[in-house]
Amino acid sequence: METEILYADPEGFEDAVAAAVGKLDAGEVVALPTETVYGLGANALDEDAVAKVFEAKERPSFDPLIIHIAQRELIREVCELSPELDAVVQQLMQAFWPGPFTMVLPKKSVIPDIVTSGQETVAVRMSEHPVMRAICKELGKPIAAPSANRFGRISPTSAGAVEKELGGRIPLIIDGGACNAGLESTIVRVELGEKRPELHLLRAGPIVKEELQKIGKVIRPKKPKKIEEAPGQLESHYAPSTPLYLFEKPEDFEPDPSLSYGLLSYRGAAKDGYIDLYDWDVVEELSPGKGKLPEAAVRLFFALRQLDESGVDAIVAESVAETGIGVAINDRLRRASAKTRNA
Ligand code: TXA
Ligand code: MG
Repeated sequence: METEILYADPEGFEDAVAAAVGKLDAGEVVALPTETVYGLGANALDEDAVAKVFEAKERPSFDPLIIHIAQRELIREVCELSPELDAVVQQLMQAFWPGPFTMVLPKKSVIPDIVTSGQETVAVRMSEHPVMRAICKELGKPIAAPSANRFGRISPTSAGAVEKELGGRIPLIIDGGACNAGLESTIVRVELGEKRPELHLLRAGPIVKEELQKIGKVIRPKKPKKIEEAPGQLESHYAPSTPLYLFEKPEDFEPDPSLSYGLLSYRGAAKDGYIDLYDWDVVEELSPGKGKLPEAAVRLFFALRQLDESGVDAIVAESVAETGIGVAINDRLRRASAKTRNA
């Protein structure tokens, strides 16, 4: 299959939106930009189209998709909300939508089982990206869109990265530029709770715990026994093809002299422990010099891809401060290293 790329720059915006809507209406899949990562979209109400998303991504059918809506009010068409839950949802939408925030809520029957992997809940988000919003609005239906990478791999934060992941497997990529949040949305399962709303944090992301706490009690779910019980919490995920090591402390790194190593460094600073430790073949810095966590978040998946493509035998990653969006960065690094750790 030939993969077309259309630029949604000011000149091409309308044509790109029309082409994407045309494909989605015809039951095809299209890669779309959001502020977090690129998504592989399909009309969420069309089971056959959604099946194509699973196929292109090689995603197991037990891992449900997020649906994207264009307006806050539309949540009532896809979710079954009691008046009490509706009130909490309104507060969360006012605070975080449009934006990198996803709510898991009881679903209405219009949402096909294939979207939710048979669960009674559905994950819903309203992106702030102008291209995604325009396409969603024009289509007039929710768009199911997981990240536009093959299953388990690094999420794409540019159209070029999508092409590397899914080129030849999908008909169309809409290029809306680089993603400016860089990490996937925060996912929260919303429940009423006794005194305050309960926000079960299923995935850390750009909306951080401190912000969520203003609205409800943030609860970190226990590790699931079986992954089918808690999709989205897969331990090994976001993984480069190259082995990636995340050590507790720099001294734990014992290089094998026959291998070449790349370093994923936070600031490129010696006091973080790794930069002077070894004669690295390649170094990628997430926030050179400054050490700004939001900048590191934006660059994380890009830098991981660079290291993966550099040809080194192994990657060593520095973790970052466990505060704010640093929590989500460390979460992605831990999962990216899980395959290597368990090998
Ligand atoms: O930023 C994002 O959220 C991006 C952009 C494209 O919107 N999307 C994204 O989708 O990251 P995906 O499919 O790669 O990750 C969504 C996660 C999955 O791990 C899935 O298991 C979880 O959300 N999820 C979806 N529906 C769920 C549900 N009903 N209950 C629990 N987890 C759910
Ligand atoms: Mg994903």
